[in-house]
Amino acid sequence: MGEEQTEGDKTAAEAKPGLSRRALMALVGTGAAGLAAGAAGAASVVAIANANGAGAANNPTLSYPFYGKHQAGIVTPAQDRMHFAAFDLAEGLGREELIELLSDWTYAASRITQGLEVSVSGAFDGSPMMPPDDTGEAVGISPAGLTVTFGFGKSLFETADGIDRFGLAAKLPKEFTDMPKMKNDFINRDQSDGDICIQACSNDPQVAVHAIRNLTRIAFGRAQLRWSQLGFGRTSSTSTAQETPRNLFGQKDGTMNLHAEEPELIDEHVWISGAGSAWSTGGSYLVARRINMTIEVWDGVQLGEQERVTGRNKRDGAPLSGGTEFSQPDFTAKGEDGQLLVDERSHVARVHPDNNDGIRMLRRGYNFVDGNDAQGRLNAGLFFIAFVSAPEQFAKVHQNMARDDLFVEYLKTTASSVFLVPPGMADGEYVGQQLFTA
Ligand code: HEM
Repeated sequence: MGEEQTEGDKTAAEAKPGLSRRALMALVGTGAAGLAAGAAGAASVVAIANANGAGAANNPTLSYPFYGKHQAGIVTPAQDRMHFAAFDLAEGLGREELIELLSDWTYAASRITQGLEVSVSGAFDGSPMMPPDDTGEAVGISPAGLTVTFGFGKSLFETADGIDRFGLAAKLPKEFTDMPKMKNDFINRDQSDGDICIQACSNDPQVAVHAIRNLTRIAFGRAQLRWSQLGFGRTSSTSTAQETPRNLFGQKDGTMNLHAEEPELIDEHVWISGAGSAWSTGGSYLVARRINMTIEVWDGVQLGEQERVTGRNKRDGAPLSGGTEFSQPDFTAKGEDGQLLVDERSHVARVHPDNNDGIRMLRRGYNFVDGNDAQGRLNAGLFFIAFVSAPEQFAKVHQNMARDDLFVEYLKTTASSVFLVPPGMADGEYVGQQLFTA
C-alpha cells in the first residue's frame, strides 16, 4: 500500500476515472457514528487473528487479478478470512446513480485487490482539512490475496411488491429463484437477502474488513449495510494445491469439492451458461446459508456416531466404506453384520452427486463464532457459501439433505440469501455493466 506505490503505479491509477464526486462527498460525510462502528468491527477481528497466530503466516504481497472473464473470489484458492456484506440501495436512487455507485465500487475494488489504497490520495496524501479517502488500517498488510466479489439480489431487479426501480425487471433471469423453505429453517430475514452483496476474502482479517468498511463508506447516502458476516478458517479447498481444512465439528470439509483445476466441471456446474440470459453468461449464483451448529450437543456425541452421521472417518476423512480421503464412497458396501457401511441417511450419502442427479457445487464457506447466548452456548457455525449455475440445483441437494440427513439434528439455518454474481469485466468497465447495456 501507500509507501510501496511506485510513480508508475500512481500514473496508471491517475489515468483511471477515479471516484465520482458523489463518492468523494460520501467520504467526507459518513459522520462519526459510522466510522466508530467500523473501527469497533475491525478491532474484534484483529483480536481473533492474533489468537490464531494467523497474522504471522500471511503473505501481504499475494494478489489476484481483479479483471477477467469471471469475477475473482469464486475459483480463486479459498483464502482464510471473509467479510461478507449485503446492502440495500437508498430510497429514490436512480438508474444512473446506481451505475455510478457500481463504477465507484469497481474502481476502489480494482485498487485495493492490488494492494493500493481506495483512491490516489488514499490514507495520507489528501488535504489535512478533509477526512482521508482511505481509512488506512490495511497499509502494509495488504492485499494478502484479497478478492472482492459483487452479487445482485433479486430485489435489484424488482422489489417484493413488484416495483421496477431501475428498469431492470425484464432482465431478471428465469432461473433466478428463491430458496424453498427447508426443514430446520429458522430464517431471520433481516440477516438475509439485500439488493447487492460484496464478498471480501483475504488471508488477513483486517484486509477483508478494510475492504467492506471502505466500500460501505464510499456508498454512504446511496446504499447502506443491511447485514454482514465475518468468517474465519476456510471450510473448503477450491484448488487441488490446498489441503482440506477442518470445520468446527472437527471434520475434514471440502474433500469432494469442485476444484479450479477441473475447468470442464466448473463450466458445467458453476458458470451460468448461454442457456440462461445472455447478460449473465459467465456469472454464477451465490447461495449463502448461515448454518448454526449445536457445538455443545455435538461435543457430547460418541466418536462412532459422529462418523456415522457424516459417513466419513473423522481422523482422515475417508469414507466409512474404506479407502483414503479421496476414495469415492461405496453406498452398497456392507459390513459383517449385513449393515450398510455408509448409512443411507449420512450427510455424504444425502448430498453425494450419485444420489442427486449428478448435481455438484463449488463450496466456499467459512466458520463463524458470533459470541454466545445467555445459556453460555456458542453462537457458532458455518457460513455456507456455494456457487452454482442455477439456484434450483442447490435447492434440490439441500432439500434431499433437509429431508432426513442425520446431520440436520445438529444444525439450524438462521439466514439464507441468493445473489447473482455477474460475469467478470475488463479494465475500463464496471461490475455488472452487461446488465445495463446488453
Ligand atoms: C454446517 C453445515 C454443514 C457441515 C458441517 C458440512 C460438512 C460436510 C463434510 C464434513 C463433508 C465431507 C467432506 C467433503 O467432501 O467435503 C461434506 C460434504 C458435502 N456437503 Fe456438507 N456440510 C454442511 C452443510 C451442507 C449443505 C447445506 C450442503 C448443500 C446442500 C452441503 C453439501 C455438501 C456436498 C455437495 C458435499 C460433497 C459430497 C460428495 O461429493 O461426496 N453441505 N459436508
